Amino acid sequence: MNVFCLFSTLILILSSVQAQLNSSCNSNDSIVLQHFMNAMETSISNWTSNSSNCCDWEGVTCDYTGKVVKLHLSKKKLVGNLIDSLGDLDQLKTLNLSRNLLKGIPPISIFHLPNLQVLDLSANEFSGSLPDTINLPSIQLVDVSDNNFEGPVSSGFCVNSTGIRVLKLGVNYFDGDIPSEFENCSMLEHLCLDANFVTGIVPEYLFRLPRLLKLSLQDNVLTGQLRNSYPSNLVYLDVSLNYLSGNLPDFFHTFPNLSFFAAHSNSFSGGIPFSLLNSRSISSLVLRNNSFSGSIGLNCSAMVKLESLDLGDNEFTGDIPSNLPSCPLLKTIDLGGNNLTGQIPESFSSFSSLCYLSLSMCNLKNLSVSLQILQNCTNLTTLVLSKSFDNEEMPSDANLQFKKLKTLAIPNCKLTGVIPVWLNGLTKLRILDLSWNELTGSIPPFLGKLQSLVYLDLSNNYLNGEIPKSLTQLPDLLFHDNSSELSVDFPIFMRRGMNGNVLRYSYGIRFPPTLDLSNNFLTGPIWAEFGNLVNLHVLNLKYNELSGNIPSDLANLTSIEALDLSHNDLTGEIPVSLTRLGMLSKFSVAYNNLIGIIPSGGQFSTFSVSSFEGNPGLCGEFVLSCVKNQESLRIRELEDVEEAIISLPVWTGFAIGFIFAVFLLLVLPRTRETKDMDKFE
Ligand SMILES: *[C@@H]1O[C@H](CO)[C@@H](O)[C@H](O)[C@H]1NC(C)=O
Ligand SMILES: *[C@@H]1O[C@H](CO)[C@@H](O)[C@H](O)[C@H]1NC(C)=O
Ligand SMILES: *[C@@H]1O[C@H](CO)[C@@H](O)[C@H](O)[C@H]1NC(C)=O
Ligand SMILES: *[C@@H]1O[C@H](CO)[C@@H](O)[C@H](O)[C@H]1NC(C)=O
Ligand SMILES: *[C@@H]1O[C@H](CO)[C@@H](O)[C@H](O)[C@H]1NC(C)=O
Ligand SMILES: *[C@@H]1O[C@H](CO)[C@@H](O)[C@H](O)[C@H]1NC(C)=O
Ligand SMILES: *[C@@H]1O[C@H](CO)[C@@H](O)[C@H](O)[C@H]1NC(C)=O
Ligand SMILES: *[C@@H]1O[C@H](CO)[C@@H](O)[C@H](O)[C@H]1NC(C)=O
Ligand SMILES: *[C@@H]1O[C@H](CO)[C@@H](O)[C@H](O)[C@H]1NC(C)=O
Ligand SMILES: *[C@@H]1O[C@H](CO)[C@@H](O)[C@H](O)[C@H]1NC(C)=O
Ligand SMILES: *[C@@H]1O[C@H](CO)[C@@H](O)[C@H](O)[C@H]1NC(C)=O
Ligand SMILES: *[C@@H]1O[C@H](CO)[C@@H](O)[C@H](O)[C@H]1NC(C)=O
Repeated sequence: MNVFCLFSTLILILSSVQAQLNSSCNSNDSIVLQHFMNAMETSISNWTSNSSNCCDWEGVTCDYTGKVVKLHLSKKKLVGNLIDSLGDLDQLKTLNLSRNLLKGIPPISIFHLPNLQVLDLSANEFSGSLPDTINLPSIQLVDVSDNNFEGPVSSGFCVNSTGIRVLKLGVNYFDGDIPSEFENCSMLEHLCLDANFVTGIVPEYLFRLPRLLKLSLQDNVLTGQLRNSYPSNLVYLDVSLNYLSGNLPDFFHTFPNLSFFAAHSNSFSGGIPFSLLNSRSISSLVLRNNSFSGSIGLNCSAMVKLESLDLGDNEFTGDIPSNLPSCPLLKTIDLGGNNLTGQIPESFSSFSSLCYLSLSMCNLKNLSVSLQILQNCTNLTTLVLSKSFDNEEMPSDANLQFKKLKTLAIPNCKLTGVIPVWLNGLTKLRILDLSWNELTGSIPPFLGKLQSLVYLDLSNNYLNGEIPKSLTQLPDLLFHDNSSELSVDFPIFMRRGMNGNVLRYSYGIRFPPTLDLSNNFLTGPIWAEFGNLVNLHVLNLKYNELSGNIPSDLANLTSIEALDLSHNDLTGEIPVSLTRLGMLSKFSVAYNNLIGIIPSGGQFSTFSVSSFEGNPGLCGEFVLSCVKNQESLRIRELEDVEEAIISLPVWTGFAIGFIFAVFLLLVLPRTRETKDMDKFE
């Protein structure tokens, strides 16, 4: 083994020496690269027009004869236009060649490098269109994704570049149909056109390209129906986020190797075809957000590869299929947003492969029995039941156990009762969302002992009592941890309704470390110890009955981005130390009884009146101007004087009245102005 390693290292060293011996750049290729460089609006680090050896330039790889074989120029902040300023051969011939002739170099572009195998220009700022004639006879990989290219998808790929294997054009502004010339991409293995404006149909011949394994057409303007009648080698097919319609054809037997199929967010209707319900190859099936209907009739004895099933936001009806646990590898299920009814089938109690279950917005019954059943799913890590139950009691059986559960979300179900004791045993829990229910009682102190909890949302309930001090000791919030911000193994996102209540969860959102206890009846102080939670990003305590001062220790919350203490009974001043919170972008203490001067500086200079209004005793330099406040004070004083005058004997009243009138003439116009201005603020 060691000898072998030594040997291969030796070979590596030898071959690099060899490459160095032959590092002199081919003169033709050198001209092309200089041309490319000169046309660029930005410079590429260490590409110099007077260094003859382009093989030394960053991102350029030459073969042993000095011919350029690879261009790796991803993420170099390059700005330029490959066709107009650089020109492809034919275009420049028809234009005036003088510019190029004067420079003494032939007008050729990187799309004519005879030995180029890899062209990676991804994640730059290139613009303009691609040439129609592409003469890269040796090319294998082209990646121009994530730029600002526009115009039609170049038909030149594959015509002369018959060996091209990977073509990535995603995240640009390409439009037009998929060119018919792609029919001849006989070596193509991976085609990606994601996130463009490609129109027309999905041509059937793409499915038949003999080597094509991965076809990704997500997020375009494709229309019509899918068709295929000949066997296809495709393993990965994504047509999501288009305008495809009609039934999904019963053609999945023509895709014997298809493992990933995503067609979410189109206008498909009808049932899931028989050949898909019986597919032996599908591992991931994503049909979310269409108009599929009928009952979900997967044949789990056939679907032996199925791991992930997302049928959310369709019009499926009937019961939750009780045979799902017999799909041997099924781990992830999202059936939310359908018109499913009934309760979680008994059979789920033996669903040992189940990891993620989301049944948001299904009309389910009997949360108590559902949890009894689901606790037997020993691998369950994520359980999302938003808006699925209606007005039931929060199950209180202290013996419920979910040893591996990391995410529990049962918001928006009008659940009554108290926060249950069994949560105590959820030691792996990271996300707990019980918001928008009708829970009463106080917040149990044991929540603060949950080792892994980083996201707690108990907002919009009827909770009362003090905030347990234990919440200021949540272990995973005590230390900075950038990873807790990521959604990592939670494949879920949150969609909020009009009034901010959680309707459903699904893929991809980030869960910043959060404590949201807003809209309850919590009393008592805001503990100074909240300052311990240096990993907290969001603290929302608005709309409660909290009293006392705002602790200056909150200035220790160095990660905090949103701090809302509005609509409480807080008194005292706003601690100046809060101006140290450099990440704070949302802040409110509105509608309390705070007094004094609003601190200035730091992020505080970015907050508007709405962050502070409703505190009669509060004024500041930038907002709720103290001068204005003083003037309204002065008016109040004047009114006092007026009253005093009226109560004075007439003769003194006359004299003072005269002075008073002069005073009014001088002062009133200005106060009127400021009062008018108030209306426009
Ligand atoms: C440069 O290109 C010309 C024309 O294709 C060819 O005749 C010549 O051999 C090439 N030079 C090198 C060094 O490859
Ligand atoms: C390349 O040109 C720059 C100025 O454009 C000059 O400073 C540098 O010395 C030149 N390098 C070589 C190797 O000629
Ligand atoms: C250019 O940069 C690359 C990588 O940064 C380096 O390997 C190479 O030696 C540099 N070439 C010159 C001529 O400075
Ligand atoms: C270096 O390249 C030349 C052609 O440019 C070739 O004749 C020679 O054999 C190469 N040397 C080695 C050691 O490969
Ligand atoms: C083309 O370039 C020549 C100089 O080489 C110049 O005299 C002529 O006016 C140019 N023509 C156009 C249309 O720009
Ligand atoms: C293919 O190559 C030939 C010869 O170099 C060239 O004339 C033709 O324009 C090329 N076609 C495309 C589509 O690039
Ligand atoms: C595909 O290639 C064949 C043979 O080279 C050619 O006859 C045909 O026109 C090409 N098809 C398209 C759509 O370009
Ligand atoms: C499916 O894949 C296998 C190998 O994994 C391959 O032998 C077979 O030809 C493929 N079937 C089709 C129709 O492409
Ligand atoms: C849901 O299904 C029930 C019967 O199963 C039906 O009465 C009801 O109208 C459906 N609701 C929607 C929104 O389709
Ligand atoms: C449960 O999860 C563990 C770890 O992720 C995994 O090794 C095991 O295979 C899973 N059990 C089932 C039945 O899928
Ligand atoms: C859960 O599993 C236990 C044994 O592991 C069994 O006794 C119990 O009946 C099961 N519960 C349900 C609802 O199936
Ligand atoms: C906040 O930081 C100050 C100064 O570092 C420290 O004295 C205080 O104890 C901290 N408070 C909390 C609650 O961590």
